[in-house]
Amino acid sequence: TQGALWGGRFASGPSDALAALSVSTHFDWVLAPYDLRASAAHTLVLHRAGLLTDDQRDGLLTGIAGLAADVADGSFGPAPDDEDVHAALERGLIERLGPDLGGRLRAGRSRNDQVATLLRMWLRDAVRRTAALVADLVDALLSQADTHPLAAMPGRTHLQHAQPVLLAHHLQAHGWALLRDVGRMRDLDARADASPYGSGALAGTSLGLDPALVAAELGFARPVENSIDGTSSRDLAAEAAWVLAMTAVDVSRLAEEVVVWTTHEFSFARLDDAWATGSSIMPQKKNPDIAELARGKSGRLIGNLAGLLATLKGLPLAYNRDLQEDKEPVVDSVAQLSLVLPAMAGMVATMRFDTARMAALAPAGFSLATDVAEWLVREGVPFRVAHEVAGACVQVCEQRGIELHELTDDDLAALSPHLRPDVRRVLDVDGAIASRDAVGGTAPVRVQEQREALRAAVAEA
Ligand code: ARG
Repeated sequence: TQGALWGGRFASGPSDALAALSVSTHFDWVLAPYDLRASAAHTLVLHRAGLLTDDQRDGLLTGIAGLAADVADGSFGPAPDDEDVHAALERGLIERLGPDLGGRLRAGRSRNDQVATLLRMWLRDAVRRTAALVADLVDALLSQADTHPLAAMPGRTHLQHAQPVLLAHHLQAHGWALLRDVGRMRDLDARADASPYGSGALAGTSLGLDPALVAAELGFARPVENSIDGTSSRDLAAEAAWVLAMTAVDVSRLAEEVVVWTTHEFSFARLDDAWATGSSIMPQKKNPDIAELARGKSGRLIGNLAGLLATLKGLPLAYNRDLQEDKEPVVDSVAQLSLVLPAMAGMVATMRFDTARMAALAPAGFSLATDVAEWLVREGVPFRVAHEVAGACVQVCEQRGIELHELTDDDLAALSPHLRPDVRRVLDVDGAIASRDAVGGTAPVRVQEQREALRAAVAEA
């Protein structure tokens, strides 16, 4: 029954309202496999310290292995009276082994160091899984870039036409942002490489147990340096919530563009039927629900981060029960991304771009005006003057409803003595794109280099 972990000094069990508030098995059960691995490691350490005989060690290890199998196949689960995953698994072990043997395992550990360690283990696995899904989305972007290595599109700032760029350049830009998110997940994984197990409730253990041995058994590089910090800090959970929220925000920016690109007005891209939805009333509709859910869920992940930080902000050292609130936000953020990322990857991989339309619109909005100004600079004109002259060209074109390349030789001469007819050479989308050939730029040769670098980076990330 609940209270079994601390019955000694209590005359009664917990009230129903306390029990209902306290219970966490509905969300901390994700830690069960990690709890059992840690219990096996703890068994070895107790034995090493002379606190278990060989037989007791073997009996406990057999019991833990059997319980782990039952947890894995679902035949053992939390009971209504179990407060949390740790209590439930101790009950399960005692049911198998009896209280004398099953009850030995709790020596020298506390749920405080247990849960801090298990959460780190869970987080490390979760960010590795998530990083692989992010890499799949980058792969989808790369496959579209491979399909359209030379397609031009209007590059935008302020959502206004700015300068023509390659579609591949634009898609890869999302890829680089997502690659940094993968890097952040790797950083977190490395920073979480210290085990709090052995910290006890806060002060460490008096039983001669070796935290380094448990750490090694559980795949950590080392034990934490400070047992108070080890049991009471949750910055790594908050960091995970941030990395996950940042990833969701980066995905959301891509999603927003998909929403815009698939509108009738833009018509830059069409979604594959398997990755779009219809309307229950409007027969013609084809909706980008994946992109919208990705965009919407990013708000939820930001909320998970904000909630966790708010939980942490007033907590004195060391452990406080508030910390139980650490799990739901990060578990939810991982779960949401595990839905969003494969759907986004499939949607991106199967999108069809109208590259003819995108290329036709690339020079619209006078997006080659900068090329006029830069041509003038190459002619020796100061940029301040060149900018004025190119701006005047735009003004004349706008008044007459024509494009820059439609200005006559006389128009050009009237606008500025520097504007020789030769300037028309730069009023060409492919030429403008090819001319931006410094590192990072939109010239096809540079974009291909970037693509190869991104592909290599994501493959080794
Ligand atoms: N379930 C708790 C948590 O998730 C761990 C238990 C610690 N409880 C305690 N009273 N010290 O944080």
